[in-house]
Amino acid sequence: MRSIVEVIAAKRDGATLSEDEIRWVIGEFAADRLPAYQMSALAMAIFFRGMTPVETGVWTDAMLRSGLVLDLSALGSGRVDKHSTGGVGDKISLPLAPAAAACDVIVPMVSGRGLGHTGGTLDKLESIPGFTVDISVDRFREILGDVGCAMIGQTADIAPADKRLYALRDVTGTVESIPLITSSIMSKKLAEGIEGLVLDVKVGRAAFMKTVDDARRLAEAMVAVGEQMGKRVVAYLTRMEEPLGHMVGNACEVRESIDVLRGGGPEEIIELVATLGGAMVELAHGVGHAEGSRRIRQVLQDGSALERWERMVDAQGGRLAELPESTGETAILATDDGFVGGIDGLEIGLCGVALGAGRVRSDQAVDPVVGIRVDTRMGEEVKRGQRLATVLHGGAGAPASALVERLGAAFSVVDRAPASEPLIIERID
Ligand code: URA
Repeated sequence: MRSIVEVIAAKRDGATLSEDEIRWVIGEFAADRLPAYQMSALAMAIFFRGMTPVETGVWTDAMLRSGLVLDLSALGSGRVDKHSTGGVGDKISLPLAPAAAACDVIVPMVSGRGLGHTGGTLDKLESIPGFTVDISVDRFREILGDVGCAMIGQTADIAPADKRLYALRDVTGTVESIPLITSSIMSKKLAEGIEGLVLDVKVGRAAFMKTVDDARRLAEAMVAVGEQMGKRVVAYLTRMEEPLGHMVGNACEVRESIDVLRGGGPEEIIELVATLGGAMVELAHGVGHAEGSRRIRQVLQDGSALERWERMVDAQGGRLAELPESTGETAILATDDGFVGGIDGLEIGLCGVALGAGRVRSDQAVDPVVGIRVDTRMGEEVKRGQRLATVLHGGAGAPASALVERLGAAFSVVDRAPASEPLIIERID
């Protein structure tokens, strides 16, 4: 076998690595015997040269086996999860997991925190006083058995090689690599003991994948790896230009999710929950997608998804009645008459981070209350002085005027309403 220097140089020159080499590199790295500078150099070589589907599959499997692979077979079949590549206002997991559980899908969800301008499910859940995402594997199993869904963070036991490599990629400019993103996401998800996975691959200015072609390549790579590992994987490419729904933040996104669980809420959230949830029911129970979506819409209307949500929050220690509220607001007003022609989700996400709803350093705490409410929709007719958005004040009080200006600039008002674009772009399976 080649030495680590030869392996790095081989990948730098475009060669394919052997299965033994990949397993050895990941094993040495996970055991802290491979220095960060050599792993960083290899990650950069992979960034430029890519990996073949076989290399990506082996790399994923090696990362998966660096830690614990949950065996949830005792819970029975129908274990399916969903993963989103990340967006602004993307609270879909909150109503989706209990809705799927109410349709007899078992949803063992391992979620992440905010990354860059995108929000994280764990940060949103932790805005509920008492809610804990750090539960033991035994308790996770117990809640899944009782409620059908539970949401935890990536523990030190789940894909530890990914945890280390992700931290390194984050600071070495090697995040945006399709094989490395594929193996990072799939190693964590396949450690959950699932039989099927539904992927929401976001595309657009407010997503990590900016073009449909890149998003399609990522989706195809993830579906292929899942299939190599004997799992059924379905991916949807979905638009991520303006925020999803009205709320961007933590507690405010929990509130909007509860509206959806009560049978209301923004139509685009319901559409995405029904589409992704429909595919989860399809993978779990072998029904058609249309029937799966119908069942999801039904449980959002009849209160059974809400009941699962309340039971899950309660089992994880959360006290929904104490969900904190903002104590003040700052309005962002239209400066012209016209139609809303652009709502820049990336800028709104970055403003949310600057307000304290996300982090710029991994050791920072987020403010559970601060948020942004988008009060208009694309194409809506507005008058000068009408409210476009609202900053919901958090612990720091009213935002600085420069931030209010920046947020205002994220909205453009034009003479003609733009054509509306579909939310769901395509399905890949
Ligand atoms: N999310 C992950 O978990 N890993 C990546 O590499 C990118 C997004």
